[in-house]
Amino acid sequence: MSELPLPRHVAIIMDGNGRWAKQHKIQVALGHRKGVETLRAIIRESSDLGIESLTLYAFSTENWRRSPEEVAALMGLLLEYFTSEIDELDEKNVRIRILGDKDGMPEKQRAALYNAEERTKNNTGLNLNIAINYGSRAELARAARALAAKAVKGEIKPEDIDEAALSNELYTKGQPDVDLLIRTSGEMRLSNFLLYQCAYAEFEFPPVLWPDFDLAAYHEALDAFRHRDRRFGGRNS
Ligand code: IPE
Ligand code: IPE
Ligand code: MG
Repeated sequence: MSELPLPRHVAIIMDGNGRWAKQHKIQVALGHRKGVETLRAIIRESSDLGIESLTLYAFSTENWRRSPEEVAALMGLLLEYFTSEIDELDEKNVRIRILGDKDGMPEKQRAALYNAEERTKNNTGLNLNIAINYGSRAELARAARALAAKAVKGEIKPEDIDEAALSNELYTKGQPDVDLLIRTSGEMRLSNFLLYQCAYAEFEFPPVLWPDFDLAAYHEALDAFRHRDRRFGGRNS
């Protein structure tokens, strides 16, 4: 079996900030803050490695169920992150896309998210997708609505709706399917993340909490991926 190259598209469910905070007997908001440091390092490394797309799950449509204090802390961090990092990311030629419903976000955050996309739209380096107010089922329903609207207007016929047409209405339009999905903290579920795009993804569940996920752990996951035998339903030998 030959060793695979690096994944083209890595997706990460950054999980475990809450448990990390609990372990260190500090507020959950500080766990999230520590998690942002990990995120910075992983983005930088992915860009340096020449990975094509990196998708990070930052806030799900279900995360609104958390306490108002925790949601406010996450919204604050988000705004802080986009304000402080945008220059460096732009300099690194990173193209930012937000996956999820930006218009359902508070005013300032919404503006920062639109600005990040607009400012980096001509960049040609790492495709950095940040999933915020994202749910995979909502994304699929939105795609179905868009296709139905086109059909009603007569722009397409129902029989034109194939996998490519559907994929073209997803937030990840134009990017390769996920090759490697990493979820930290030991949880082994998708939590409504990229259900369509992960159809043939390889999964890695490193047992560390997100704030402890360092570059060595990232490389371990990438190496594990390179030793997988991906068959896509066929046979390799
Ligand atoms: C992931 O960490 C970050 C977000 C969901 C925003 P969690 O906050 O889910 O951490 P745990 O699962 O409680 O440890
Ligand atoms: C998924 O993690 C969402 C993010 C990492 C942003 P959660 O911690 O919200 O998922 P569940 O609730 O454990 O499934
Ligand atoms: Mg969690």
